[in-house]
Amino acid sequence: MLPTSTLTAVTLFTVVSVVTGDERPNFIILFADDMAWGDLGANWNLPKTASDTPNLDELSEGGMRFTDFHAAASICSPSRASLLTGRLGIRNGITQLVPSAAVGGLPLNETTFAEVLHDAGYSTAMIGKWHLGNNGSFHPINRGFDYYFGLPFSPDSGCTDVPGRDIPSRNPCPKDLRSSTPLSGRSDYDSFEDCTGNSGYALPLYENYTVVEQPLDLWNLSASYAEKTVNFLKQTQNSDKPFLMYVAFTHMHVPLGHGSKFTNMSVNGFFGDTLREMDNIVGDIMSTLRAIGKEDNTMVWFTSDNGPWVIKCQYAGSQGPYIGKWQEIYGGGGSTGKLTPWEAGHREPALVYWPGRIKPGQVSDSLLSAMDIFPTIATIAGVAMPANRKFDGIDITEVLFGGKRIYDGRALFHPNSASSGTMGDLNTVRVGRYKALYLTGQDFAPAAACGGKTGPVQWHSLPLIFNIDTDPAESSPLNQTSAEYKAALGNIQNALIFIMDDIANDNTTIANWNTEPSCKPCCNPNHVACRCKD
Ligand SMILES: *[C@@H]1O[C@H](CO)[C@@H](O)[C@H](O)[C@H]1NC(C)=O
Ligand SMILES: *[C@@H]1O[C@H](CO)[C@@H](O)[C@H](O)[C@H]1NC(C)=O
Ligand SMILES: *[C@@H]1O[C@H](CO)[C@@H](O)[C@H](O)[C@H]1NC(C)=O
Ligand SMILES: *[C@@H]1O[C@H](CO)[C@@H](O)[C@H](O)[C@H]1NC(C)=O
Ligand SMILES: *[C@@H]1O[C@H](CO)[C@@H](O)[C@H](O)[C@H]1NC(C)=O
Ligand SMILES: *[C@@H]1O[C@H](CO)[C@@H](O)[C@H](O)[C@H]1NC(C)=O
Ligand SMILES: *[C@@H]1O[C@H](CO)[C@@H](O)[C@H](O)[C@H]1NC(C)=O
Repeated sequence: MLPTSTLTAVTLFTVVSVVTGDERPNFIILFADDMAWGDLGANWNLPKTASDTPNLDELSEGGMRFTDFHAAASICSPSRASLLTGRLGIRNGITQLVPSAAVGGLPLNETTFAEVLHDAGYSTAMIGKWHLGNNGSFHPINRGFDYYFGLPFSPDSGCTDVPGRDIPSRNPCPKDLRSSTPLSGRSDYDSFEDCTGNSGYALPLYENYTVVEQPLDLWNLSASYAEKTVNFLKQTQNSDKPFLMYVAFTHMHVPLGHGSKFTNMSVNGFFGDTLREMDNIVGDIMSTLRAIGKEDNTMVWFTSDNGPWVIKCQYAGSQGPYIGKWQEIYGGGGSTGKLTPWEAGHREPALVYWPGRIKPGQVSDSLLSAMDIFPTIATIAGVAMPANRKFDGIDITEVLFGGKRIYDGRALFHPNSASSGTMGDLNTVRVGRYKALYLTGQDFAPAAACGGKTGPVQWHSLPLIFNIDTDPAESSPLNQTSAEYKAALGNIQNALIFIMDDIANDNTTIANWNTEPSCKPCCNPNHVACRCKD
């Protein structure tokens, strides 16, 4: 059976209703960083007092929570590029992390939902982590957002004066001025890599095009994000324009840091305190939305970019349930969630809240993707999707408003986000309840399992296939001689043939991966660390 619903639904896309003026709804898209499925209290039915996400739990209770909802990749930039474009990295060009010194970023002929809504008259703002290029035209201000405030990449891409907690440990930023003596070879000087020990470069904080703080204060960053989201919402109060606000939190990416008022608020230690701080911004946003009288006309989404850096062994709070023995054997899931094609890498907490429109208290096990958000909000706003390309996301308004379940026949492709081989390749396929892994193990950032084991990189010409419905921990692959395996394999192979043909007939884009020191956001080039002040 062909998984036709994945792709043809968008080809058949029609603009359902064209509404105008202030009747058009507002959209808030809340996007956590490295949050595990298990970090959302509502996913465990935890009592309010035991949950570190009371505000998100309240939104789940008042709206629809998804239990089988997937990030588009298991790593940051590709997941974000796909969220914004509704297309997999193999189409939009972003198949790996965009370095902070990148000349390019998300290719300019790829179109974000912010560009589409902005062109349709929405007021648009982004607060938080962009990670899709900073230079010139690639800056968020040129990708559909009227306003931008945030750390544009990950908090481990540079130093701060008071280092954050947990791996990787960091030194405070150097205070040196640039000297005429070459400092090359010094680990804290001019390294152009992201995420790999670039300790010398100070983390920048942008407002619009301007670096307003460098190094930023990681411990106060969420307070600043809360202030800017609230300011933006208040500014919309007297405007006729509908708005889109995309909030991409720095939390729960390591190194962690949080404001002092959250210390010991959680029983789950430092991780829990930080999670509470992130959840608290959600509370600030919702109370502001109520105060300005726009709650009923605003659709709020929440999900995360990929699974957690570390699962369970180190952090009590970060315990996605999807860790099985095969993950330990094949290395990739034992202690690490993100980067891997296992469920811990991409199955995310997710919910949508819209009082009066989405019935409260619903839980959906539809098989969905973060890429579905773009086609869905486009339908709701009455705008057309960008022309001349195909999409991996589908319009899910019937799930939200019509009680529909999308499951059998839906195909999702989890791109290679760290294994050997080519980043972005579709080596992991989900069709309905079955999930096939052709490539296991990883060599990008070899991750030890909890017991210290690392698995070899292995290609399985007959893939491991799991029944995710009955075995979400991916603990026992189906017996390859069984009729169930053969039937599942047939559907999976058909899904792969279908999408590879679709991609071959699509307009796809290649990104520019060159780096250039001058492209790295820098407040003051006279300082080694680019400090704004001495
Ligand atoms: C950065 O972007 C600007 C404006 O688009 C461009 O002129 C410049 O060449 C870019 N920098 C590099 C190093 O490519
Ligand atoms: C950011 O840009 C927007 C749109 O141009 C402008 O309205 C706003 O004043 C700017 N904010 C700052 C702090 O520069
Ligand atoms: C933290 O950020 C808030 C909001 O921007 C600001 O009011 C406060 O002064 C900041 N605190 C510190 C210590 O920088
Ligand atoms: C938080 O808890 C730790 C461990 O119990 C304790 O040492 C510390 O003093 C507490 N901090 C505050 C601000 O209450
Ligand atoms: C690709 O773009 C061209 C125009 O540049 C357009 O004619 C063609 O239909 C597009 N292909 C798809 C699959 O949309
Ligand atoms: C798979 O099933 C076959 C046929 O029932 C059986 O002989 C074989 O032992 C099974 N293999 C495993 C690994 O369980
Ligand atoms: C983007 O531009 C490239 C190069 O011109 C082209 O090959 C590709 O089809 C374009 N992609 C889309 C989605 O239009």
